[in-house]
Amino acid sequence: MKNNLFIAFEGIDGSGKSTQVKLLTENLKKAGHKIYFTFEPTDSPIGSVIRNILNHRIEADHKTIAGLFLADRLDHLLNKTNGILKKLEEGFTVISDRYYFSSYAYHGAHMSIDWVIEANSLCADLLRPDLNIYIDVAPEIGIKRLNSGRNSADLFENIENLKKVKEKYFEAFEKLTSKEKVFITDGNRSSDLIADDILNEVLGIM
Ligand code: ADP
Ligand code: TYD
Repeated sequence: MKNNLFIAFEGIDGSGKSTQVKLLTENLKKAGHKIYFTFEPTDSPIGSVIRNILNHRIEADHKTIAGLFLADRLDHLLNKTNGILKKLEEGFTVISDRYYFSSYAYHGAHMSIDWVIEANSLCADLLRPDLNIYIDVAPEIGIKRLNSGRNSADLFENIENLKKVKEKYFEAFEKLTSKEKVFITDGNRSSDLIADDILNEVLGIM
């Protein structure tokens, strides 16, 4: 048992990650915990290049994209002012909207998943999440939710891709079952029920 944790949220686009990250942050703060919320792609200069690729302003190969996410993640961990390792050292529980399982799933859908896992071992060696929370929804549901909020789609936000991404998430969970703690929650329920489920799981290891 330890009381300052690193928790990563995972799921396909539209699964409800941002909603749940917000609810967990609020619930833990209410319970008196010191929480730092963060996300990938980050808002660093590397993250900004990535967002320009995601919204079709810049074109790049999938291998290049995988490399950029790796660089963004290393900075996310190691940044001396607001890096995750620094925040953990300062006693915060850190909650991140996406971490390396996103790379395994999204890039593993277009290139060797083993290469992506191997490249990200740099990050795994620095910090493995105490808990990876996967919000499980069908790709059709994720797309429907996204489409009701806006009318343009980012690079990975189409049904065929999200089907592959979901498959790759489960392939990665299987491959890493002995190394990673993964909690899978049914994302097809109301936000409140999902939030209760997640809070119980997290409080169980705090
Ligand atoms: P993500 O960060 O995984 O893309 P969001 O949390 O932004 O997902 O949610 C995508 C959309 O779905 C938003 O409009 C949000 O209000 C809605 N949403 C989130 N969770 C649920 C839920 N459990 N049931 C129905 N709609 C939801
Ligand atoms: P995000 O802003 O979390 O999108 P959403 O809120 O719609 O889920 O992530 C942006 C996109 O970046 C998303 O399609 C997943 C993708 N992504 C990768 O391809 N590789 C990665 O390593 C990460 C962290 C995200």
